[in-house]
Amino acid sequence: MRVGVPTESKIDEYRIAITPAGVRELTARGHDVLVQAGAGAGSAIADAEFVAQGARIIDDAPALFAEAELVLKVKEPQAHEVPWLRPDHTLFTYLHLAAEPELARGLQQSGATCIAYETVEDADGRLPLLAPMSEVAGKIATQAGAFMLEKPLGGRGILLGGVPGVAAATVLVIGGGAVGMNAALIAIGMQADVFVFDSSIDKLRELDIVFAGRASTVFSSTLAIEQMLPMADLVIGAVLVHGARAPHVVTRAQLSLMRQHAVLVDVSIDQGGCFETSRPTTHSDPTFEVDGITHYCVTNMPGAVPITSTYALTNATLPYVLELADHGPAEALERSSALRMGLNVRDGEIIHPAVAEALGV
Ligand SMILES: NC(=O)c1ccc[n+]([C@@H]2O[C@H](COP(=O)([O-])OP(=O)(O)OC[C@H]3O[C@@H](n4cnc5c(N)ncnc54)[C@H](O)[C@@H]3O)[C@@H](O)[C@H]2O)c1
Repeated sequence: MRVGVPTESKIDEYRIAITPAGVRELTARGHDVLVQAGAGAGSAIADAEFVAQGARIIDDAPALFAEAELVLKVKEPQAHEVPWLRPDHTLFTYLHLAAEPELARGLQQSGATCIAYETVEDADGRLPLLAPMSEVAGKIATQAGAFMLEKPLGGRGILLGGVPGVAAATVLVIGGGAVGMNAALIAIGMQADVFVFDSSIDKLRELDIVFAGRASTVFSSTLAIEQMLPMADLVIGAVLVHGARAPHVVTRAQLSLMRQHAVLVDVSIDQGGCFETSRPTTHSDPTFEVDGITHYCVTNMPGAVPITSTYALTNATLPYVLELADHGPAEALERSSALRMGLNVRDGEIIHPAVAEALGV
């Protein structure tokens, strides 16, 4: 199998979909690995490190797409990349199509087989390829929120952990999955007062054990959120309904319940956002204000720490990459129910039920 790894072209994206360790595993099994020149630079991996493990360096992206059969990426194809996809391509990457109808149409027209990292699901209903990036994004969410609370950055001017004699800030985390738990653990570490909301009692039970009394768990409801918003300095939105657009857990009207210059961090923005007033932002311009509330809505938060994120992501994707390369996509999809859950688009059709429902097709 010819496996191609292009340079990510989304703004502020520095990750790459393979490391030298992955190249080594593939070439040792007889696969051909093509890496675009400079693709690893953002993650501090030189072309020579890929070459040392048997990769071939290709100068530009169109040539790489032309030669590759299996294309590995990190973020969804950008508008200029979609026309390079063909019916004989298998694309393996984050897609988040539920909130991207135009991209979904482009992928349908390409005829390519598109498998989305974020909907690959194991037998226990976990999302093994979303989890590592969610862990990174959760940790960044609290760091970023703490920073945006500083006065010179437009925040309320409160220190997350307080000091002796001065109360800590109040942090609400809505959605207690991989993102939410990691956001909460960092907030606990920074000595904030932390409340984690989730609509799953089982999830709250798990979290209660993990937090061991250092944070409160709250069954998520509109009323419970409304009652806590007036106390909040930082609200981190981290809800997910698999494959679907994020539900709105804070509406525009509810912003008026909040303290002026409090901060909302919408990690669910890649699924359309879980605050009604959210819109996607980038690392170079991460925030905007609505009704006096700072919104941080960066769609690729792990892209800010590419060295951590590239290794965390590729550790998780490699077993699936090997399965696709060794058996070919058709047989790999037959053999692996996890990969089948990842299948979003094939032969011009949207295959994943929740994605299809979100797109209304
Ligand atoms: N912005 C980024 O850079 C970035 C990076 C990684 C992940 N994400 C996104 O973060 C979101 C969360 O990911 P995750 O891995 O933590 O998912 P997860 O499935 O582990 O957790 C989601 C949690 O939300 C809960 N939930 C669902 N609906 C809810 C509701 N209405 N109220 C309260 N809780 C609710 C679920 O019970 C679950 O515990 C996803 O949308 C994911 O795509 C974004």
